[in-house]
Amino acid sequence: MKVLFATAEVTPFSKIGGLADVAGALPKALEHHGVDIRVITPGYKSIAFKDYSLKDVATFSVPVGARTYEANILSTRLPESENVEVFFVRNEEFFDREGIYVDENTGEGYSDEAERFIFFMRAIIQWLQGDSWKPDLLHCNDHHTALLPAYIKEMADEFPVLRGMKSVYTIHNMGYQGTHDKQVLQKTGFPKSVYTDNETFEDNGDVNFMKVALKYADKINTVSPTYAREIMSSEEFGFGLQGVVKERADDVSGILNGVDYSEWSPEHDDLIPYNYSAKVISGKAKNRDELLRKNRMMAEKTTPIIGMVSRLVDQKGFDLIDEALDEILALELQLIILGTGEKKYHYLFAEAIEDYPEKVAVNFAYNNPMAHLIEAGSDLFLMPSKYEPCGLNQMYSLRYGTIPIVHATGGLADTIDDFNSETKVGNGFSFSEYTSEALVETIKRALRTYKNKALWKFLRDNAMRCDFSWDVSAGKYVELYQSVIE
Ligand code: ADP
Ligand code: GLC
Repeated sequence: MKVLFATAEVTPFSKIGGLADVAGALPKALEHHGVDIRVITPGYKSIAFKDYSLKDVATFSVPVGARTYEANILSTRLPESENVEVFFVRNEEFFDREGIYVDENTGEGYSDEAERFIFFMRAIIQWLQGDSWKPDLLHCNDHHTALLPAYIKEMADEFPVLRGMKSVYTIHNMGYQGTHDKQVLQKTGFPKSVYTDNETFEDNGDVNFMKVALKYADKINTVSPTYAREIMSSEEFGFGLQGVVKERADDVSGILNGVDYSEWSPEHDDLIPYNYSAKVISGKAKNRDELLRKNRMMAEKTTPIIGMVSRLVDQKGFDLIDEALDEILALELQLIILGTGEKKYHYLFAEAIEDYPEKVAVNFAYNNPMAHLIEAGSDLFLMPSKYEPCGLNQMYSLRYGTIPIVHATGGLADTIDDFNSETKVGNGFSFSEYTSEALVETIKRALRTYKNKALWKFLRDNAMRCDFSWDVSAGKYVELYQSVIE
């Protein structure tokens, strides 16, 4: 089975969020299941190309509207895979920029986002047309690659390689749909007859790339079973596309993301100063000291540290934290945050640092070593997301013995069982009602449990034993691919 995995981010080359983690790990697991899998992604300027041995694969020109742009395809092996090739589509004008999605000068998304990804998708198709390797299936992810299922069905006369090719579309987040002025359709290369008076290409006067994929893809999936149900249930989760997903209900499934334990395990994580395991846990306390030192906080042995690694956006529950911050910081805890995002949350935390310097530290940065140190050095991990398609950090936290506190939604509901101190069953703390009262109550409950050393050990052992490796989920992807190819 030959599959091409198309994605806007892939670890370790480029990363904004969990999509990169999935794109860097799932292909390795699929390779173990015998899939002939290749990955294709934009060749952003920020990628450390000099660290990899690169093959020059092809150069050709790609039309986007009235202009043509040169596409240069390079490839390298995905690190730690046997033989998964990652192909980079390079173009100076579209991808040689400081940011991946956001213009660092303005803090806004690039205004030519549609053109950048139309270029990327058209380059993929032209490259396939010219290459001898022909995938049976294109696995598309998020709105950046969402027109590909339509290209397959509508452009096979021009690009015969597309004949009979199948597609799977994975939704990583309904909150980002790729909605653009309809004018951009003229730059897609689709014949006018394809999109004129076609409600698939119409979304309140605009074009919505995700909607196009939801209509054209052979199968649709998302990254947890609960989120698969939620996105059909209401506007709140579906962001306007709930009806479109529901129409395809028979083709929609939820497959939980996995964890790449070669990157996220305290036993052999080389980004943390002290390795440890459930059996030999002593290193965790040393990482804790290091975390406090790096964040210039006093070491209070009995005060629990709550860590957060997150995009600072509404999705991640920061509106609840905003409402309850004074109440939270009045509790016996220290809060260490890593993240960047919306300005209002940068202001909120800048103020909190001034008011409570001994209780809260915030790293307004993207910093992978610090993300690992927070996982290793914290006692609890806070992730009160309003909605969460899957979420990876709560699963990483489990392995590091850092107990998650979550809002029970999407993938958080599928991975975190509320700890019952009577039966000693459960791996974290969760609350169902999305209110600041419920959040504060749950934090208080976690802090009470933390004080009981014996109980805490039970909980930590439960957490560290959880296994969310990719193998099982990759098997489900193979079944999904088979269901369309056959
Ligand atoms: P999402 O993709 O919605 O942001 P996930 O939980 O799926 O959420 O994945 C987030 C990923 O990005 C995790 O690997 C997390 O460690 C990483 N991450 C998020 N913010 C930062 C940051 N500021 N610095 C380093 N890593 C980060
Ligand atoms: C998105 C979601 C996150 C998920 C990730 C990878 O960014 O917000 O929940 O884990 O994609 O699928």
